[in-house]
Amino acid sequence: MSGLMPRFRSALIWVSCLLIALASWRFLLLGVELSMPFVAYHALERPLAFYAHIGLAPVALALLPFQFWRGLRQRRPGLHRWLGRGYGLAILMSGLGGLVLAIGSTSGAVPALGFGALALLWLGTTGRGIWLAMRGRMTEHRAWMIRSGALTFAAVTLRLYLPFLFATLGEDLGYTIVAWACWLPNLVVAEAILRRNRKRPVGQPA
Ligand code: HEM
Repeated sequence: MSGLMPRFRSALIWVSCLLIALASWRFLLLGVELSMPFVAYHALERPLAFYAHIGLAPVALALLPFQFWRGLRQRRPGLHRWLGRGYGLAILMSGLGGLVLAIGSTSGAVPALGFGALALLWLGTTGRGIWLAMRGRMTEHRAWMIRSGALTFAAVTLRLYLPFLFATLGEDLGYTIVAWACWLPNLVVAEAILRRNRKRPVGQPA
């Protein structure tokens, strides 16, 4: 019974990351105009940033559950390192793209600031996490990658909250709120996980 909740939570994370990553690549089959008309203007005005973002951010999201899978990390550390390089590179390019999209967004200053801050923190936490891994500082690496993962997961929380916020607050206010709400609570949860892990006796699994 005690193992049921963590398993259910982990299944939800796997399914939501992989489904949203796959759904994000719908533009490859349908084209941008048809599959995401509300952001199609970015494809004309800043195509490099746009395609780097929508092509590569889903790579980071799809890799996320693999990187947090303890069994894989323990059995195949080499694979974890290679997938980690892919995760970092995907975030470097799609995060810079996301920053350019946020600056060029026509949705208003408050949502643009929310997405801009998210992009900077995404790049910063991931960069710091990888830098620490390269220096063998694995406890700190783990902490910063938990923060990075919480921000990558914003792609999921955004799409969970958006229909509810649009229905209750309307599109303008709903979008303004989701630009912050998709990641700030995720970071709070990440900090709570880190705090809980710090209190755990050494050797007990996370
Ligand atoms: C975590 C940092 C992220 C930031 C700062 C960010 C930022 C943005 C911005 C500013 C836009 C354009 C929205 C607009 O102009 O109104 C956008 C669109 C998009 N982003 Fe991200 N994003 C992030 C993560 C992700 C991830 C991890 C995915 C993976 C699925 C993703 C997939 C997309 C897609 C597919 C679009 C096109 C619109 C849509 O289908 O929702 N983004 N993003």
